[in-house]
Amino acid sequence: MHGQLIEVPPGTGKEPDLGHHGDAEATPGLVDLAVNVRRDTMPDWLADPLTASLAELAAYPDPGPARAAVAARHGRPPAEVLLTAGAAEGFVLLARALAGVRRPVVVHPQFTEPEAALRAAGHQVERVLLDPADGFRLDPARVPADADLVMIGNPTNPTSVLHPAADLAALARPGRVLVVDEAFADTTLAPGVAGEPESLAGRRDLPGLVVVRSLTKTWGLAGLRIGYLLGEAALLDRLAAVQPLWAVSTPALAAATACASPPAVAAEREIAARLAADRDHLVARLSALPGVRVAGRPASAFVLLHLAGADRVRETLRERGWAVRRGDTFPGLGPDWLRVAVRDPATTDAFTDVLAEILEA
Ligand SMILES: Cc1ncc(COP(=O)(O)O)c(C=O)c1O
Repeated sequence: MHGQLIEVPPGTGKEPDLGHHGDAEATPGLVDLAVNVRRDTMPDWLADPLTASLAELAAYPDPGPARAAVAARHGRPPAEVLLTAGAAEGFVLLARALAGVRRPVVVHPQFTEPEAALRAAGHQVERVLLDPADGFRLDPARVPADADLVMIGNPTNPTSVLHPAADLAALARPGRVLVVDEAFADTTLAPGVAGEPESLAGRRDLPGLVVVRSLTKTWGLAGLRIGYLLGEAALLDRLAAVQPLWAVSTPALAAATACASPPAVAAEREIAARLAADRDHLVARLSALPGVRVAGRPASAFVLLHLAGADRVRETLRERGWAVRRGDTFPGLGPDWLRVAVRDPATTDAFTDVLAEILEA
Protein backbone atom coordinates (compact mmCIF):
# COMPACT_ATOMS: atom_id res chain seq x y z
CA MET A 1 0.00 0.00 0.00
CA HIS A 2 1.39 3.41 -0.92
CA GLY A 3 0.90 6.80 0.62
CA GLN A 4 0.79 5.62 4.21
CA LEU A 5 2.94 5.64 7.22
CA ILE A 6 3.50 2.07 8.32
CA GLU A 7 5.39 0.41 11.08
CA VAL A 8 7.23 -2.56 9.76
CA PRO A 9 6.68 -5.83 11.53
CA PRO A 10 10.18 -7.26 11.96
CA GLY A 11 10.87 -10.71 10.62
CA THR A 12 7.72 -11.14 8.49
CA GLY A 13 8.31 -13.27 5.44
CA LYS A 14 7.26 -10.44 3.12
CA GLU A 15 10.02 -8.12 4.21
CA PRO A 16 12.32 -6.99 1.40
CA ASP A 17 15.94 -8.02 1.79
CA LEU A 18 17.54 -4.76 2.93
CA GLY A 19 20.99 -6.30 2.66
CA HIS A 20 20.76 -6.91 -1.09
CA HIS A 21 22.92 -4.64 -3.27
CA GLY A 22 23.54 -4.32 -6.99
CA ASP A 23 27.04 -5.78 -6.78
CA ALA A 24 25.47 -9.18 -6.04
CA GLU A 25 23.79 -9.01 -9.46
CA ALA A 26 26.77 -7.84 -11.48
CA THR A 27 28.40 -11.25 -11.67
CA PRO A 28 31.46 -11.76 -13.90
CA GLY A 29 30.71 -12.06 -17.60
CA LEU A 30 27.62 -9.86 -17.54
CA VAL A 31 27.44 -6.27 -18.77
CA ASP A 32 26.90 -4.37 -15.54
CA LEU A 33 23.92 -2.03 -15.48
CA ALA A 34 23.25 -2.96 -11.85
CA VAL A 35 25.96 -1.04 -9.99
CA ASN A 36 26.12 2.75 -10.02
CA VAL A 37 29.87 3.17 -9.69
CA ARG A 38 31.46 4.96 -12.64
CA ARG A 39 34.35 3.06 -14.18
CA ASP A 40 36.66 5.34 -16.09
CA THR A 41 40.38 5.97 -16.20
CA MET A 42 41.40 7.65 -12.98
CA PRO A 43 42.52 11.25 -13.61
CA ASP A 44 46.13 12.10 -12.70
CA TRP A 45 45.06 14.65 -10.08
CA LEU A 46 43.52 11.70 -8.19
CA ALA A 47 45.85 8.84 -9.11
CA ASP A 48 49.04 10.77 -8.23
CA PRO A 49 48.22 11.66 -4.61
CA LEU A 50 46.69 8.23 -4.07
CA THR A 51 49.88 6.55 -5.25
CA ALA A 52 52.04 8.96 -3.26
CA SER A 53 50.07 8.17 -0.12
CA LEU A 54 51.32 4.58 -0.25
CA ALA A 55 54.73 5.86 0.89
CA GLU A 56 53.08 7.12 4.09
CA LEU A 57 51.41 3.90 5.20
CA ALA A 58 53.71 3.37 8.20
CA ALA A 59 52.17 6.42 9.89
CA TYR A 60 48.69 6.51 11.41
CA PRO A 61 46.27 8.53 9.28
CA ASP A 62 45.89 12.29 9.91
CA PRO A 63 42.43 13.46 8.81
CA GLY A 64 43.25 17.15 9.35
CA PRO A 65 44.19 18.21 5.80
CA ALA A 66 41.34 16.25 4.18
CA ARG A 67 38.86 17.66 6.66
CA ALA A 68 40.03 21.19 5.88
CA ALA A 69 39.83 20.57 2.13
CA VAL A 70 36.30 19.13 2.29
CA ALA A 71 35.20 21.97 4.59
CA ALA A 72 36.54 24.55 2.11
CA ARG A 73 34.72 22.86 -0.72
CA HIS A 74 31.39 23.20 1.05
CA GLY A 75 32.01 26.60 2.67
CA ARG A 76 31.96 25.27 6.22
CA PRO A 77 34.42 25.21 9.13
CA PRO A 78 36.38 21.93 9.48
CA ALA A 79 34.51 21.10 12.71
CA GLU A 80 31.41 20.62 10.55
CA VAL A 81 32.99 17.76 8.57
CA LEU A 82 33.41 14.14 9.68
CA LEU A 83 35.28 11.87 7.27
CA THR A 84 33.95 8.31 7.09
CA ALA A 85 34.78 4.99 5.47
CA GLY A 86 32.19 5.62 2.74
CA ALA A 87 28.68 6.95 3.23
CA ALA A 88 27.78 3.51 4.58
CA GLU A 89 29.84 4.09 7.73
CA GLY A 90 28.03 7.40 8.22
CA PHE A 91 24.68 5.61 8.52
CA VAL A 92 26.09 3.25 11.15
CA LEU A 93 27.55 6.13 13.18
CA LEU A 94 24.20 7.93 13.09
CA ALA A 95 22.28 4.82 14.13
CA ARG A 96 24.66 4.09 17.02
CA ALA A 97 25.19 7.62 18.31
CA LEU A 98 21.50 8.54 18.18
CA ALA A 99 20.45 5.64 20.41
CA GLY A 100 18.01 7.89 22.27
CA VAL A 101 15.72 8.79 19.34
CA ARG A 102 12.13 7.70 19.87
CA ARG A 103 10.55 7.92 16.43
CA PRO A 104 12.99 7.35 13.54
CA VAL A 105 11.40 7.62 10.10
CA VAL A 106 12.93 6.54 6.81
CA VAL A 107 11.47 7.86 3.56
CA HIS A 108 11.29 5.07 0.94
CA PRO A 109 11.91 3.85 -1.66
CA GLN A 110 15.54 4.66 -0.96
CA PHE A 111 18.93 3.04 -0.43
CA THR A 112 18.35 0.35 2.18
CA GLU A 113 21.43 0.76 4.38
CA PRO A 114 20.13 3.70 6.46
CA GLU A 115 17.21 1.58 7.64
CA ALA A 116 19.38 -1.52 7.99
CA ALA A 117 21.83 0.41 10.18
CA LEU A 118 19.01 1.75 12.35
CA ARG A 119 17.55 -1.69 12.85
CA ALA A 120 20.93 -3.24 13.59
CA ALA A 121 21.34 -0.63 16.34
CA GLY A 122 17.99 -1.65 17.81
CA HIS A 123 15.73 1.15 16.54
CA GLN A 124 12.06 0.59 15.68
CA VAL A 125 11.88 2.12 12.22
CA GLU A 126 8.83 3.65 10.59
CA ARG A 127 8.59 4.10 6.85
CA VAL A 128 7.00 6.80 4.75
CA LEU A 129 6.40 5.26 1.33
CA LEU A 130 6.35 7.79 -1.51
CA ASP A 131 3.78 7.19 -4.20
CA PRO A 132 4.77 6.04 -7.70
CA ALA A 133 1.55 7.61 -9.03
CA ASP A 134 2.95 11.08 -8.45
CA GLY A 135 6.51 10.27 -9.46
CA PHE A 136 7.74 9.51 -5.89
CA ARG A 137 7.48 13.23 -5.04
CA LEU A 138 8.00 14.20 -1.41
CA ASP A 139 5.16 15.82 0.48
CA PRO A 140 6.87 17.07 3.68
CA ALA A 141 3.50 16.92 5.47
CA ARG A 142 3.63 13.12 5.21
CA VAL A 143 6.48 12.96 7.72
CA PRO A 144 5.07 12.74 11.27
CA ALA A 145 5.58 15.98 13.17
CA ASP A 146 7.13 14.21 16.16
CA ALA A 147 9.66 12.14 14.17
CA ASP A 148 12.95 12.97 15.86
CA LEU A 149 15.10 11.35 13.17
CA VAL A 150 14.24 11.53 9.46
CA MET A 151 16.32 9.92 6.72
CA ILE A 152 15.87 10.68 3.03
CA GLY A 153 17.99 10.47 -0.13
CA ASN A 154 18.51 13.31 -2.63
CA PRO A 155 18.75 12.45 -5.45
CA THR A 156 17.17 9.21 -4.38
CA ASN A 157 18.45 5.75 -5.17
CA PRO A 158 16.63 3.90 -6.81
CA THR A 159 13.99 6.35 -8.06
CA SER A 160 16.48 8.92 -9.45
CA VAL A 161 14.11 11.62 -8.17
CA LEU A 162 15.63 14.94 -7.10
CA HIS A 163 13.54 16.60 -4.41
CA PRO A 164 13.46 20.41 -4.22
CA ALA A 165 15.86 21.68 -1.53
CA ALA A 166 13.01 23.75 -0.06
CA ASP A 167 10.91 20.61 0.57
CA LEU A 168 13.80 18.98 2.41
CA ALA A 169 14.62 22.14 4.34
CA ALA A 170 10.99 22.20 5.48
CA LEU A 171 11.65 18.92 7.31
CA ALA A 172 14.36 20.43 9.55
CA ARG A 173 13.38 21.57 13.03
CA PRO A 174 14.78 21.80 16.55
CA GLY A 175 14.65 18.43 18.30
CA ARG A 176 14.96 16.46 15.06
CA VAL A 177 17.98 15.11 13.22
CA LEU A 178 17.38 15.34 9.47
CA VAL A 179 19.71 13.11 7.46
CA VAL A 180 19.89 13.81 3.73
CA ASP A 181 21.87 11.21 1.79
CA GLU A 182 23.53 13.12 -1.05
CA ALA A 183 25.71 10.24 -2.25
CA PHE A 184 24.70 11.09 -5.84
CA ALA A 185 24.31 14.88 -5.54
CA ASP A 186 27.28 15.47 -7.81
CA THR A 187 25.46 13.69 -10.66
CA THR A 188 22.67 16.29 -10.75
CA LEU A 189 22.43 19.31 -12.98
CA ALA A 190 19.95 22.09 -13.71
CA PRO A 191 19.98 24.65 -16.50
CA GLY A 192 21.37 27.98 -15.32
CA VAL A 193 22.58 26.55 -11.99
CA ALA A 194 26.36 26.47 -11.59
CA GLY A 195 26.56 23.91 -8.78
CA GLU A 196 24.50 20.97 -7.54
CA PRO A 197 20.92 22.20 -7.94
CA GLU A 198 19.15 20.96 -4.80
CA SER A 199 22.02 20.21 -2.44
CA LEU A 200 21.88 21.21 1.22
CA ALA A 201 25.61 20.58 1.71
CA GLY A 202 26.39 24.26 2.24
CA ARG A 203 23.37 25.03 4.44
CA ARG A 204 24.45 25.92 7.99
CA ASP A 205 21.14 27.43 9.08
CA LEU A 206 19.02 24.28 9.29
CA PRO A 207 18.80 22.76 12.80
CA GLY A 208 19.80 19.10 13.09
CA LEU A 209 20.76 18.73 9.41
CA VAL A 210 23.32 16.05 8.55
CA VAL A 211 24.28 15.70 4.90
CA VAL A 212 25.82 12.37 3.89
CA ARG A 213 28.25 12.43 0.97
CA SER A 214 30.07 9.67 -0.90
CA LEU A 215 33.16 9.85 -3.09
CA THR A 216 32.91 6.23 -4.20
CA LYS A 217 30.46 6.63 -7.10
CA THR A 218 31.66 9.23 -9.57
CA TRP A 219 35.31 8.65 -8.77
CA GLY A 220 35.18 4.86 -8.88
CA LEU A 221 36.45 4.44 -5.30
CA ALA A 222 33.99 1.90 -3.91
CA GLY A 223 36.86 -0.35 -2.83
CA LEU A 224 38.74 2.50 -1.13
CA ARG A 225 35.80 3.49 1.15
CA ILE A 226 35.61 7.25 1.46
CA GLY A 227 32.75 9.62 2.24
CA TYR A 228 31.84 12.24 4.83
CA LEU A 229 29.15 13.84 6.93
CA LEU A 230 28.40 17.57 7.09
CA GLY A 231 26.49 19.08 9.98
CA GLU A 232 26.58 20.97 13.26
CA ALA A 233 29.89 20.48 15.10
CA ALA A 234 28.26 19.32 18.35
CA LEU A 235 26.25 16.65 16.53
CA LEU A 236 29.26 15.46 14.54
CA ASP A 237 31.23 15.22 17.79
CA ARG A 238 28.65 12.71 19.04
CA LEU A 239 29.03 10.69 15.86
CA ALA A 240 32.83 10.84 16.02
CA ALA A 241 32.67 9.49 19.56
CA VAL A 242 31.31 6.15 18.27
CA GLN A 243 33.63 5.96 15.24
CA PRO A 244 36.51 3.48 15.44
CA LEU A 245 39.89 5.10 15.74
CA TRP A 246 41.63 5.66 12.37
CA ALA A 247 38.57 4.45 10.46
CA VAL A 248 39.58 6.30 7.29
CA SER A 249 42.88 5.19 5.78
CA THR A 250 45.66 7.47 4.53
CA PRO A 251 44.94 6.70 0.81
CA ALA A 252 41.24 7.40 1.39
CA LEU A 253 42.13 10.73 3.02
CA ALA A 254 44.38 11.58 0.07
CA ALA A 255 41.46 10.89 -2.26
CA ALA A 256 39.13 13.09 -0.19
CA THR A 257 41.58 15.98 -0.40
CA ALA A 258 42.01 15.57 -4.15
CA CYS A 259 38.26 15.25 -4.82
CA ALA A 260 37.55 18.46 -2.88
CA SER A 261 39.83 20.59 -5.08
CA PRO A 262 38.31 23.12 -7.49
CA PRO A 263 39.46 21.18 -10.61
CA ALA A 264 37.83 18.03 -9.22
CA VAL A 265 34.57 19.84 -8.58
CA ALA A 266 34.70 21.33 -12.11
CA ALA A 267 35.30 17.83 -13.49
CA GLU A 268 32.24 16.57 -11.60
CA ARG A 269 30.12 19.22 -13.33
CA GLU A 270 31.42 18.08 -16.75
CA ILE A 271 30.72 14.46 -15.91
CA ALA A 272 27.20 15.41 -14.81
CA ALA A 273 26.59 17.19 -18.13
CA ARG A 274 27.68 14.15 -20.15
CA LEU A 275 25.62 11.93 -17.88
CA ALA A 276 22.52 14.07 -18.50
CA ALA A 277 22.87 13.60 -22.26
CA ASP A 278 23.44 9.85 -21.85
CA ARG A 279 20.46 9.65 -19.49
CA ASP A 280 18.20 11.46 -21.97
CA HIS A 281 19.23 8.91 -24.58
CA LEU A 282 18.48 5.98 -22.25
CA VAL A 283 15.11 7.43 -21.23
CA ALA A 284 14.14 8.00 -24.87
CA ARG A 285 15.05 4.44 -25.80
CA LEU A 286 13.26 2.93 -22.81
CA SER A 287 10.16 5.06 -23.32
CA ALA A 288 9.82 3.70 -26.85
CA LEU A 289 9.50 0.12 -25.57
CA PRO A 290 6.04 -1.40 -25.13
CA GLY A 291 4.92 -1.62 -21.50
CA VAL A 292 7.99 0.15 -20.11
CA ARG A 293 7.40 3.26 -18.00
CA VAL A 294 10.27 5.34 -16.65
CA ALA A 295 9.52 6.59 -13.11
CA GLY A 296 9.39 10.29 -12.35
CA ARG A 297 11.93 12.65 -13.89
CA PRO A 298 15.27 10.86 -13.53
CA ALA A 299 18.04 13.14 -12.29
CA SER A 300 20.93 10.84 -11.43
CA ALA A 301 23.17 8.06 -12.75
CA PHE A 302 20.36 5.51 -12.99
CA VAL A 303 16.71 5.27 -13.93
CA LEU A 304 13.90 3.29 -12.37
CA LEU A 305 11.48 1.61 -14.68
CA HIS A 306 8.16 -0.11 -14.26
CA LEU A 307 7.41 -3.14 -16.39
CA ALA A 308 4.87 -5.86 -15.65
CA GLY A 309 6.80 -9.07 -14.96
CA ALA A 310 10.12 -7.23 -14.59
CA ASP A 311 11.45 -9.98 -12.33
CA ARG A 312 11.19 -12.53 -15.16
CA VAL A 313 12.56 -10.05 -17.70
CA ARG A 314 15.56 -9.55 -15.43
CA GLU A 315 16.26 -13.29 -15.45
CA THR A 316 16.08 -13.38 -19.24
CA LEU A 317 18.36 -10.37 -19.46
CA ARG A 318 20.88 -12.25 -17.35
CA GLU A 319 20.71 -15.20 -19.75
CA ARG A 320 21.41 -12.75 -22.56
CA GLY A 321 24.44 -11.27 -20.73
CA TRP A 322 23.00 -8.18 -19.01
CA ALA A 323 22.79 -7.43 -15.29
CA VAL A 324 20.19 -4.91 -14.07
CA ARG A 325 19.19 -4.16 -10.48
CA ARG A 326 16.07 -5.87 -9.13
CA GLY A 327 13.50 -3.53 -7.62
CA ASP A 328 11.77 -5.83 -5.18
CA THR A 329 14.34 -5.45 -2.39
CA PHE A 330 13.46 -1.75 -2.04
CA PRO A 331 10.58 -1.03 0.38
CA GLY A 332 7.72 0.51 -1.60
CA LEU A 333 8.62 -1.22 -4.88
CA GLY A 334 8.00 -4.80 -5.98
CA PRO A 335 8.68 -7.38 -8.70
CA ASP A 336 7.56 -5.05 -11.51
CA TRP A 337 10.42 -2.58 -11.01
CA LEU A 338 14.00 -2.52 -12.31
CA ARG A 339 16.83 -0.03 -11.87
CA VAL A 340 19.13 0.50 -14.83
CA ALA A 341 22.42 2.42 -14.76
CA VAL A 342 23.04 5.17 -17.30
CA ARG A 343 25.87 4.16 -19.60
CA ASP A 344 27.29 5.45 -22.90
CA PRO A 345 24.87 5.52 -25.86
CA ALA A 346 26.39 2.46 -27.58
CA THR A 347 25.88 0.34 -24.43
CA THR A 348 22.38 1.75 -24.01
CA ASP A 349 21.50 0.92 -27.62
CA ALA A 350 22.76 -2.64 -27.29
CA PHE A 351 20.87 -3.07 -24.02
CA THR A 352 17.57 -1.64 -25.23
CA ASP A 353 17.78 -3.73 -28.42
CA VAL A 354 18.03 -6.89 -26.30
CA LEU A 355 15.26 -5.69 -23.99
CA ALA A 356 13.03 -4.99 -27.03
CA GLU A 357 13.63 -8.51 -28.34
CA ILE A 358 12.74 -10.00 -24.96
CA LEU A 359 9.55 -7.94 -24.71
CA GLU A 360 8.50 -8.86 -28.24
CA ALA A 361 9.16 -12.58 -27.77
C1 LIG B 1 22.14 6.33 -2.14
C2 LIG B 1 23.38 5.71 -1.61
N1 LIG B 1 23.92 6.20 -0.48
C3 LIG B 1 25.05 5.68 0.02
C4 LIG B 1 25.66 4.60 -0.56
C5 LIG B 1 26.91 4.05 0.05
O1 LIG B 1 28.01 4.66 -0.53
P1 LIG B 1 29.49 4.39 -0.03
O2 LIG B 1 30.15 3.54 -1.05
O3 LIG B 1 30.11 5.76 0.05
O4 LIG B 1 29.42 3.73 1.30
C6 LIG B 1 25.14 4.05 -1.72
C7 LIG B 1 25.79 2.88 -2.36
O5 LIG B 1 25.22 2.23 -3.20
C8 LIG B 1 23.96 4.62 -2.25
O6 LIG B 1 23.39 4.13 -3.35
